[in-house]
Amino acid sequence: MQQPPNTLRRALLGAAILAAAVGPGSAAAAEPLKVGLIVPMSGPFASTGRQVDAAVKLFLQQNGSTVAGREIQVILKDDGGVSPDVTKRLAQELVARDKVQVLAGFGLTPLAFAAAPVATQARVPMIVMNAATSVIPQRSPYIVRTGFTLPQVTAPLAQWAAKNGIKSVVTFVSDYGPGIDAEKVFVKDFAKAGGKVVASLRAPLRNPDYAPFLARVKDAKPDAVFVFVPSGEGAAVLKQFTDRGLGAAGIRLIATGDVLDDDLMPSIGNAALGVVSSHHYSAAHPSPENKAFVAAFTKANKDMRPNFHAVGAYDGMQLLYAALKKTGGNSEGPKLLEAMKGMAWTSVRGPVVLDAATRDLVQTVYIRKAEQVDGGVYNVEFDKVEKFRDPGVD
Ligand code: PHB
Repeated sequence: MQQPPNTLRRALLGAAILAAAVGPGSAAAAEPLKVGLIVPMSGPFASTGRQVDAAVKLFLQQNGSTVAGREIQVILKDDGGVSPDVTKRLAQELVARDKVQVLAGFGLTPLAFAAAPVATQARVPMIVMNAATSVIPQRSPYIVRTGFTLPQVTAPLAQWAAKNGIKSVVTFVSDYGPGIDAEKVFVKDFAKAGGKVVASLRAPLRNPDYAPFLARVKDAKPDAVFVFVPSGEGAAVLKQFTDRGLGAAGIRLIATGDVLDDDLMPSIGNAALGVVSSHHYSAAHPSPENKAFVAAFTKANKDMRPNFHAVGAYDGMQLLYAALKKTGGNSEGPKLLEAMKGMAWTSVRGPVVLDAATRDLVQTVYIRKAEQVDGGVYNVEFDKVEKFRDPGVD
């Protein structure tokens, strides 16, 4: 029987990936180092790709495209943000045909999961800049993550809520990896701190209609609703929250910073005022490093505010450059990965360390309130937990 073309194609790609993995590597010290950057540049999560692309370009512009004698060439691929098969195929092609020595990007959890075995097989570091389900680095020893995890930002918010007069909560999340992480951690930590979760609702990731869920929240009359939806979706949730009169009924909205992401804040505007959220990055973070970053980003990308995805990407490049300096330009996967482990630097978000054991960042998580600042609405940090690592999900 003839092999279906798809299977044949996969088998050939698989063989080419293996060949790439055992190929020369360090012998080509002066050759350009190719980075395969896979993000959604189209589809419902295109804002993630736009932010990542802009941040990587800014980093190259500021730091030059040569490090430790190696010219860095970034090959950008649009995976559309919704199909794990597409992401996996792009990762395979980048490794086998383009001979990239680093994979990076990954806008959503299912897409990072899909690419993980490709990184393992080809022995190339995979820098997850965006996807935030806790378990991701466990899917490949070649994964390092320069973003955050949902448990990491949710746990401090559950504590804050319990200590600030919120006694009953309905949790409302997108029904996939990061949302389920956020729900589980909020339910557990809020109960431990003496609060009560009265209902847990999950909306589909694809084509969600938030209205019926917020109607149910209103009927349950909790002190607050805790929300996680992926970046890009927050405006729709805020609109329904306002239109259905939840705020007017005395229900508070608390959220992970994904809901009030800086890319969306200008379009959410006053509807966000007073909302308390927790995250690792706000464009309003008052450090000199961040002020310079926001100014340069906005100058290079008119009318665009950097969000946490841009910072995950900027720090991903920072990590790669620092690791290459450490290896003297050697880009063999295992060497580069070793050099990355334990790396510490001052990010525009605050101090970070890539934990050598978990390959996730230990970082500051901030509690913020949306306020009017200089004619725009920003998430203004007012409390923080320093050196906070991903607590994981039981
Ligand atoms: C994810 O799919 O892991 C993800 C996407 C967007 C977010 C957070 C997590 O804002």
